[in-house]
Amino acid sequence: MVRKIPWDPNQPLLYVLRDGLALHGPKFGCGLGQCGACTVMVNGQPARSCTMPISKAAGASVTTLEGLGTPEKPSALQVAFIAEGAAQCGYCTNGMIMTAEALLKRTPKPTVEQVKQGMASCLCRCGTHTRIVRAVMRASGQAGRTA
Ligand code: FES
Ligand code: FES
Repeated sequence: MVRKIPWDPNQPLLYVLRDGLALHGPKFGCGLGQCGACTVMVNGQPARSCTMPISKAAGASVTTLEGLGTPEKPSALQVAFIAEGAAQCGYCTNGMIMTAEALLKRTPKPTVEQVKQGMASCLCRCGTHTRIVRAVMRASGQAGRTA
């Protein structure tokens, strides 16, 4: 669907997604490109939408968490995060899932170490990291694998 909305081209993509399009999957965390909460896919690559001006996203394909699955038909990662209880407050979950989505596209059967490295730039202040790693392993078809 193509929607045209008037917006200052220097505004962060995140503001347009949340305030202009009511897509609330991506979250405002640090606003500095450091925590990952705002991650979306731009042309299939994870991007920090809090620091990306919308002018840079012009003509690009942008996918938010809402584009991965629905409550009726969740994605494999969404199912795995629920199954592993991989959220406490859930604020980081968007960034974790979007980053993991890109990771599993690059490396469909990662090791635990590869998951840890691939997710290292996403912060979780609740300390849910162990469950998040388990969820990514589950989504890759390796539930229960610990190394
Ligand atoms: S809110 Fe964008 S990286 Fe933290
Ligand atoms: S679950 Fe709360 S920040 Fe990660």
